[in-house]
Amino acid sequence: MAKKSDDHDEMKQCSGTAGFWEERGVSRRDFLKFCTAMSAALALPVSLAPKIAEALESDSRPSVIWLEFQSCTGDTEALLRAANPTVGEIVLDVLSVDYAETIMAAAGYQAEEAKHKTMKERGGKYIAIVEGSIPTGANGAYCCIGGKSALEIAREVCGGAMATITVGTCASYGGIPAAAPNPTGAMGVKDAVPGATVINLPGCPVNTDNLVATVVHLLTFGKLPAVDGKGRPQFAYGKRIHDNCERRPHFDAGQYVEAWGDQAHRKGHCLYKMGCKGPETFHNCPSQRYNEKTAWPVSAGHGCAGCSEPYFWDSMTPLYKRLPNVPGFGIETTADTIGLGLAAATAAAFGVHGVVSAFRKGDESEGAKEE
Ligand code: SF4
Ligand code: F3S
Repeated sequence: MAKKSDDHDEMKQCSGTAGFWEERGVSRRDFLKFCTAMSAALALPVSLAPKIAEALESDSRPSVIWLEFQSCTGDTEALLRAANPTVGEIVLDVLSVDYAETIMAAAGYQAEEAKHKTMKERGGKYIAIVEGSIPTGANGAYCCIGGKSALEIAREVCGGAMATITVGTCASYGGIPAAAPNPTGAMGVKDAVPGATVINLPGCPVNTDNLVATVVHLLTFGKLPAVDGKGRPQFAYGKRIHDNCERRPHFDAGQYVEAWGDQAHRKGHCLYKMGCKGPETFHNCPSQRYNEKTAWPVSAGHGCAGCSEPYFWDSMTPLYKRLPNVPGFGIETTADTIGLGLAAATAAAFGVHGVVSAFRKGDESEGAKEE
């Protein structure tokens, strides 16, 4: 109890600081609630909420360069379509977005100048956010901006950044453009810019709540959150979808949808037999959800496609076929047992892309080492 009251005192102390957020239409109460929610989202003790508040109220506004390469612009759309204005304000007001070619008013030379000015004046201190994959085939000719290839731009910008956050599966692992036979030689930032400090936020699209939480961690602690073996923050990708799914009791009870629109589908039974890849996918979709936390694919009646896993378009397809070789399928089968079947298929797909190992256990121990 004493601890709780200490936390409360700290929050009260903090609430006396400047009205940065009130000026932007966010009430003090909502701001402090946001800071507490952030500490929970990042799996931090609530006692760190005042530290988060302090960091977000700081006068220094870190610069951001937002690059877009081979993508559908879904991640920018996800950010801009957020109905809750506080999320957009928190990201955009705390940060100084100096370059974002898709949405900035400037164009051409003026836009390029803004980017170069930030790189020159804020070298090593700005944040790079990358959306879309980087084509490396034909000397990078498949995607050029301002006379430079995406590969050159990524090396320049991400190489000089304090940290790079990849948003979406394309920037993280190559995405749909990298699907076999990968005609443009597309790859994710970590592979294209070796040595850069990169954290991956895969998903189609990125969940903006996870982007905000990652930025908040960076601003508060001056470093990126702990990652797993696939470079994803553990706070958002540490748990298997299947283990947190609201349809899990139906899986355990052997109640499955057999055809779209059948009685089981109408009753919200498990989508495993319809190809759900939740047993092999790590992401916080069931808890964080999309569209202002209202829905996620499984709640809408569609199985998880595994979009936050590397090379899901090759390793998780056919999308509507159930995971292979499931021993003891049905009653009380654990997700760990089911995962074994897909691991072999995933490893084969990874081999194609030159990635050493996709096996979860190996990845997790790598992640532990990185931590
Ligand atoms: Fe949920 Fe899919 Fe697992 Fe069924 S198989 S419990 S729908 S994650
Ligand atoms: Fe993607 Fe599956 Fe979540 S398809 S959005 S990881 S439920």
